[in-house]
Amino acid sequence: LLTSSGTTTNGAAVTPSHSSSPFNRTIFPPDFIFGAGSSAYQIEGAANLDGKGPSNWDTFTKNHPDQIKQAGCKPPLMGISRKATASSWCKKELLMKSSTSTGGDQRRILTENIQDTSSSALVTADFYHRYKEDIQLMKKIGLDSFRFSISWSRVLPTGKINGGVNQQGVQFYNNLINELLSNGIMPFVTIFHWDVPQALDDEYGGFLNSTIVKDYQEYAEFLFKTFGDRVKNWCTVNEPSMFALIGYDVGLNAPGRCSDYVGNCTAGNSAIEPYIVAHNLLLAHSAAVKVYREKYQVSQNGEIGITLVTDWYKPKFNTQSSRKAASRALDFSLGWFLHPITFGDYPQTMQSILDDRLPKFTKYESDSLKGSFDFLGMNYYTANYVEALPPVTINHSYYVDIQANFTTEKNGVAIGEPTHISNFFMYPRGIQELLIYIKDKYKNPPVYITENGVGDPNTIPFIEAIKDNIRIRYLQGHLLHILKSIKEGANVKAYYVWSFLDDFEWASGYTIRYGLTYIDFKNNLERHLNERGMVVENWAPQVKIL
Ligand code: NOJ
Repeated sequence: LLTSSGTTTNGAAVTPSHSSSPFNRTIFPPDFIFGAGSSAYQIEGAANLDGKGPSNWDTFTKNHPDQIKQAGCKPPLMGISRKATASSWCKKELLMKSSTSTGGDQRRILTENIQDTSSSALVTADFYHRYKEDIQLMKKIGLDSFRFSISWSRVLPTGKINGGVNQQGVQFYNNLINELLSNGIMPFVTIFHWDVPQALDDEYGGFLNSTIVKDYQEYAEFLFKTFGDRVKNWCTVNEPSMFALIGYDVGLNAPGRCSDYVGNCTAGNSAIEPYIVAHNLLLAHSAAVKVYREKYQVSQNGEIGITLVTDWYKPKFNTQSSRKAASRALDFSLGWFLHPITFGDYPQTMQSILDDRLPKFTKYESDSLKGSFDFLGMNYYTANYVEALPPVTINHSYYVDIQANFTTEKNGVAIGEPTHISNFFMYPRGIQELLIYIKDKYKNPPVYITENGVGDPNTIPFIEAIKDNIRIRYLQGHLLHILKSIKEGANVKAYYVWSFLDDFEWASGYTIRYGLTYIDFKNNLERHLNERGMVVENWAPQVKIL
């Protein structure tokens, strides 16, 4: 029987006395994997070196402030508040924040880091040059596995096989994989984590066009052929919902397109584009899985899956309309992808609300999607209360389509414990509720928690940030609830902290730090392992076996 050191009524773990808590990994199932994650664009740097072609993010970061202006200033209503946080939604808001006592001049930080090429994503954490040093840090903290993504345009600069292979890019990933393996760390590879080759966006609109399915499939096959003798865990796509929404509905991520609702938006698309992009991502996913299963899986003995994300949604009131709204929110965020790959089609709620704005699968596509994953990657960060809103007939956006309002408090009480980021609360019980929901509704698939973590604003002084108090508390709380879900029958196999290194946090630039490793961006990118994140054992919940 497992008991925890205790939880508060809102589901947050109480402060563990970690020094007196020897953590024994055998509390988890014997082959449970502890890892940490990253993505190519966020850590590699070397964005224009050694033959790498430009990606949509290289284009976007150069133009970033203009893109934000185009997107207007209305925040979305739900779910991606963690993306906004320190950088917020637009220049105007950033200016307002700069006058608050704690906020500092966030606008300056944002534009400095995104616009100015000397401190932009051209370099980030410079993992491209420093991976060996970083792998030693991974070893030191006891990681079983490291999750990273491959930059499509680093290996195929034009995005296409017939445009030529960049051997220097291939060499980098060979070196990285070999170095991980020779240090006993298992590579977990994401094939696509949001950086589209710019050439494909230019030629046919990238994921807006189904032509990309074939190009993506050929790219994925190239990776299986080149690295599959050593890589046994493949993830086709990271967070397709966020790629589609923030890039094509809210306009804060590349390529900065947005729907009518966002207002003052030159690319106003009546919330059709995010659904098209998501559709093509699903087809690309199943095309990659198909070629892997038909030609590589048996001989290479690996597995393939996809990484999805959702917040946990709780009905705000004990009413049928609130409960239905929370269920709609889960359908729109998780079911949007998990339903097709489990059952072959979109959730009924999405079909009836979106009508002909939602693309349709052919019989062949539906059959190929059904069961197209060996494991489900899940990213979980936080939770929201949900209440129903009436439907609208104009000014659509994904957020309006859900017909719901999202809040983080009820009767003045926050949904969880505060963090250093305003409006971002820890709700560790949500990961357990989510895992049980997936078990019951989606046939209990093997689940890898591919991301879980909390950010610190970079306004926190180094000396405090390095102590990692909130992060340790956050990780322990979530691990505790993962253990509980396993006891209740959920099939959880792995846990990856987001993230291993501080990185380029997309629209937020360098204003938020998610790393177990603090990077001094102003001082030669020096690495400092956080004091308490130092060893995997210290992330673990204080659990007693009775
Ligand atoms: C979502 C994304 O996968 C990752 O790239 C991002 O940095 C983190 N979660 C934190 O927002």
